[in-house]
Amino acid sequence: MKKLFFAILLSVAGTMLAQTPVNLTPRPRQMTAGEGHFALQSRLVVAYGSMADSLSVEAARFVIHLNAATGLQATAQGRSEGAITMHLDASCPPEGYRLSIKPTGVDVTASTSAGFFYAFQSLKKMLPANVMARKYDARRSYVLPCVEIQDEPRFPYRGFMLDVSRHFFGVEQLKRMIDIMAAYKMNYFHWHLTDDQGWRAEIQKYPRLTTVGATAPNCRITDMKRGTYWTNQPYGPYFYTRSEMREVVDYCAERHITVIPEVDMPGHFVAALAAYPEFGCDPAHPVTVWTTGGVSRDVLNVASPRALQFARDILSELCDIFPGPYFHIGGDECPTDAWEKNAECQRLVADEGMKSFRELQSRFTEQMSDYLASRGKRTLLWNESITAQGSDLARVKKNNPLIFSWYPCQKAALMAAENGLQTIVTDIHSATGSYYINRKQSADPGEPDGAGKGDDTVERCYNYVPVPASVPAELQGFYKGVQATFWCEWVGTNDYLEYLALPRLMAVAEAGWTPQSMKDFENFRRRMAMDREMLDLGNYNYGKHIFK
Ligand code: ACM
Repeated sequence: MKKLFFAILLSVAGTMLAQTPVNLTPRPRQMTAGEGHFALQSRLVVAYGSMADSLSVEAARFVIHLNAATGLQATAQGRSEGAITMHLDASCPPEGYRLSIKPTGVDVTASTSAGFFYAFQSLKKMLPANVMARKYDARRSYVLPCVEIQDEPRFPYRGFMLDVSRHFFGVEQLKRMIDIMAAYKMNYFHWHLTDDQGWRAEIQKYPRLTTVGATAPNCRITDMKRGTYWTNQPYGPYFYTRSEMREVVDYCAERHITVIPEVDMPGHFVAALAAYPEFGCDPAHPVTVWTTGGVSRDVLNVASPRALQFARDILSELCDIFPGPYFHIGGDECPTDAWEKNAECQRLVADEGMKSFRELQSRFTEQMSDYLASRGKRTLLWNESITAQGSDLARVKKNNPLIFSWYPCQKAALMAAENGLQTIVTDIHSATGSYYINRKQSADPGEPDGAGKGDDTVERCYNYVPVPASVPAELQGFYKGVQATFWCEWVGTNDYLEYLALPRLMAVAEAGWTPQSMKDFENFRRRMAMDREMLDLGNYNYGKHIFK
């Protein structure tokens, strides 16, 4: 009788397991569900054969993570076969992978360490939610659904930008966001380190940047519970030391995320000018670090050789810290008023026969990108560098910059492509949606104060089409990816950051990975509902609008 009872129990459990839906976001390119499941045994082996250390390290990291969450005693070994066996196949696309899960074992195939990493991320994600959340629970049964997956990303660039100038977020909070990026296979962390409201990167040659420049005289906080208030206290000095920046780079590297530092110049530069007024256009009238958003007319004096050296020195120190191939130098929202009134700028415009003061910015962009090129870095720019009236495109284009299209996004992206420049789509807000995921996601009067009017919903974010069908086929290849962009004028607390970012960050992650034809908001919504357990286990605060 007892035996019969257990037999029935096992078969019911087996059926339930067989029906466990495969919950993967971003949705894989090809997936065929099989029958049954693969149960992870305590001493399971992940076999990496004779692979190089750069590849086998992915197995080692997977095992450490798995054991920490499950209490299993899995090991990574240089054997040719294990419960999970890795295979190298040069025909797999660079970030792609194949997974074959059968009741007898799992085969993982890729051609690069990134491919293996994404395969292991998919395995973690298909296990109970505590695994990806890395929360220990020895009581669960750790089984994988049988499935065949062939996967690769749509775009090589799947980014998240965080503004840490308007409000500062410590390294632990950055790591929480980076963990989410990694869980959803995003691969670029664009770190907006400087702006009018605070300088956040230690620069040894210019210490006042992180004393004067990293301290605002007051601070506006929007608290999820208390509402918006001013602290009436100085805010700062808040900044990242060199070793903290390296720590973030290393943390990202383990997750196949490249860090892109941004020093926003020559506009959005008030924090630097508050610390070093001699590099502004009107040193007799010093500026102070800003406390709210907006666009300042106080900008770097790009005609001054000493100011240019200041900018180069900053780039130089940061090039030493950030090993990635990209460096973002801003270029957005830079009024020319201060240049028009400055004698040095007027002289340069006359001497070089420039047709407009905007050409000063183009000249500056060329000079900085020449320097970055000499350090082996490619320059990244906001779209005004090409779209601002009067720009000298030949100068801007010289070093083949990557253009971040935000406003008017699709027009700018098309212009970049028509000029032979690659582009990243991160629309602030248009008729079809927004990738600025700090904006209000509902018009509910209970929504905390913030940017936007509440129409930048998760659904509109998800349904935004980054490469419209109207883009000529021969230009579509210039669209290199998508980015979720997060500005922090209103956002200064961890819970508000997470509330706005999640799950819109996942919506952009899916836009970056999954083919357009496979996107389906209802399906995404169901997967996000399943992911709530993982987010809850990680104590993430997230917007619940789509679950109501
Ligand atoms: C921007 O939103 N100013 C790039």
